[in-house]
Amino acid sequence: MTSTQTPMPDATKVVDSMEQMSAGPYEGQRRSSARGLCCTGTFTPTGDAAPLTTAAHLQHQPVPVTVRFSNSDGNPHVPDGAPVTRGMAVRFHLPDGAETDLLGITVPLFVASTPPEFLALTQALRPNPGTGHPDPAEVRAFVAEHPHLASAVAQQPPIPVGYGRAAYWAIHAFVWVNDAGRRQPVRYRWEPAAGRASLSAQDAASRAPDYLTQEFHQRLQDGPVAFALQVQLSEVGDPTHDPTVAWPDTRKELTVGHLELTAPVVDQSHWSEQRFDPTRITSGIELSDDPVLAFRAHAYAESFRRRSRHG
Ligand code: HEM
Repeated sequence: MTSTQTPMPDATKVVDSMEQMSAGPYEGQRRSSARGLCCTGTFTPTGDAAPLTTAAHLQHQPVPVTVRFSNSDGNPHVPDGAPVTRGMAVRFHLPDGAETDLLGITVPLFVASTPPEFLALTQALRPNPGTGHPDPAEVRAFVAEHPHLASAVAQQPPIPVGYGRAAYWAIHAFVWVNDAGRRQPVRYRWEPAAGRASLSAQDAASRAPDYLTQEFHQRLQDGPVAFALQVQLSEVGDPTHDPTVAWPDTRKELTVGHLELTAPVVDQSHWSEQRFDPTRITSGIELSDDPVLAFRAHAYAESFRRRSRHG
């Protein structure tokens, strides 16, 4: 693994810029992924991860989970058909009362290698006051200055038929540690059991503004919404510090568990107020040397602070 010395921007400055990017702030709302729904279910590990990590939820016993699906925009009024990424934030409730989170989105690469690059991109994506949309020339200038981000920025997220019909990548590397102390960098992906399915932009535009919530509730009437947790194992030399660089598709992949979502949470408002955090790990899992992963903890805490005081 390599370590980077990138100076961190102030999280307040980044969250300010995210608010401007979504023409916010919106009172009491997350500064990203404002619109969403929470549900409950069970994660059953296959046992295939047990030789590689001591993490309690990746052994042999099922654990309860709470999951929040979301649309990435910080504006909660943007309709579900918008061509944005979707999020899946999973909280595993561990047998000893502890909790660990795993957050994923519907594209495999992040759009910045470092927090300063992310800040610069959010600035380039601010809506032009005249048009209400980002200025394409600013985005082109950002990519010209950061050519290594061109393919990540060009990713087109699918507009899923339902929250349960998309794959969600956790993107960053994490490091598993087993009971002999052996360390193995990994990357996670949730794969929908019903298969991936998306809408054309035209079809999406004709759907109800809350079609994702409606579809999710309808699907639950026919049985659980299910996902497999796929884990890619790194090999020597695979970068762990850069969320814009994929590992080769040929890397060994394990199916480490199956998730079954069975019902909306009874208390949506309680759960939508919670703070998911990609750095909320548990024994047997370590953070990698990715500076974006470390920075996210500060940005999420700042967003939580602002929305909790109803600002
Ligand atoms: C510099 C990088 C990033 C920053 C500054 C950032 C910032 C934020 C903020 C401020 C929130 C709202 C938090 C809250 O109020 O609880 C959020 C939510 C979220 N972010 Fe990020 N993010 C970053 C990268 C990522 C990446 C790489 C992923 C992909 C795994 C991701 C996935 C999500 C998801 C799924 C949510 C919604 C969580 C929920 O439902 O509570 N973010 N992000």
